[in-house]
Amino acid sequence: MTELLPVEPLHRLRERRSAKWRAYGPEVLPLTIAEMDFALPDAVRDVLADAVGRSDTGYAMPTDGLGEALAGFAERRWGWRLDPTAVTATTDVSAGVVEMLRLFTNPGDRVVINTPVYPPFFDWLDEARTELHEVPLTHTDQDGWRLDLPALDRAFATKPAAFVLCNPQNPVGRVHTPEDLAAVVELATRHGVPVISDEIHAPLALPGATFTPFLSVPGAAEIGVAVVSGSKAFNLAALKCAMVVTGSQRMRDVVAKLPPDTPWRTGHFGVLATTAAYTHGDQWLDRLLVTLDDRRTLLAKLVRDRLPAVSWRPPQATYLAWLDCRSLGSGTEPRDLFLGAGVALEPGTRFGEHSGYVRLNFGTSVEVLELAVDRMASAL
Ligand SMILES: Cc1ncc(COP(=O)(O)O)c(C=O)c1O
Repeated sequence: MTELLPVEPLHRLRERRSAKWRAYGPEVLPLTIAEMDFALPDAVRDVLADAVGRSDTGYAMPTDGLGEALAGFAERRWGWRLDPTAVTATTDVSAGVVEMLRLFTNPGDRVVINTPVYPPFFDWLDEARTELHEVPLTHTDQDGWRLDLPALDRAFATKPAAFVLCNPQNPVGRVHTPEDLAAVVELATRHGVPVISDEIHAPLALPGATFTPFLSVPGAAEIGVAVVSGSKAFNLAALKCAMVVTGSQRMRDVVAKLPPDTPWRTGHFGVLATTAAYTHGDQWLDRLLVTLDDRRTLLAKLVRDRLPAVSWRPPQATYLAWLDCRSLGSGTEPRDLFLGAGVALEPGTRFGEHSGYVRLNFGTSVEVLELAVDRMASAL
């Protein structure tokens, strides 16, 4: 039996100074921002403690072993062979996507995204001075949320300048299938639409799901890049390190045009911690996935027992639950209803036109999850 990852008691979590724990007062349980509450892998803790101990707090050397560490991790976890020299460090995934958008588009161009999606996708398009072309995911009871391939075909036929894919998709937790990704490659190639695949949640494919790296799909490397990071899986958001990956000379030539300072804006601690996590973090990650699977099962039971009017489909990846509260019919956005009972959740309206939904972060302890659902039930 795998030992589940520990989480500190709530009063200790409340001493954290990260955004998730500081955005609300002590009367509120924050299940919002995608940070986890688990203790870090030893390899990460050790490399950071060692660097602080040596006052090794200067600039990052973002070429030093990061690509090799990612390549080893990608091959072990997903059988994806990537060239370590085709990895360019960026401050974070957000910066990587925005910089790639700037290379693929001109101001005023349209960019396709699939909603519901991580809210900054909308901001990134603004930041790159591009226009939104929204292609919502489809939803069926049988298959859940899925890429709408006929709608993508129609959208791509209008010649948008780029497509930003979210794989796995936050907030619905969909791991796109190899077949759907192959269809995306075919459409993007036929219509000449470059693809930026945001794969930040890739290592968080939970038991029962298998992640397919976009660039491992035949033909994808010619038309797209991936932006990856260890920050979601190993909880390293503070440290600022992500990577743009290419798989063809054509895309290498595009990435070569990134502003030359891009890699130098990566955090030194981010490079150290990410390299350590990718190199020595497999066992911890396996424990994390078992722990998240346990929380996913617990949440399913709690929702069934305590919130029967709420429906959801447990995610295939991530520690985020996309809860459909539309049948509560209270006339109040469910986020406000639950906040009134002392539980902060992300409102569905931030992810596109999704009034009546909330996103709940279950990357926490049994204690916090049970207390949160108790409070949510008391609001109804
Ligand atoms: C899909 C997705 N992309 C990007 C990010 C942000 O990544 P970063 O902090 O590296 O910019 C998140 C954060 O939750 C996310 O869910």
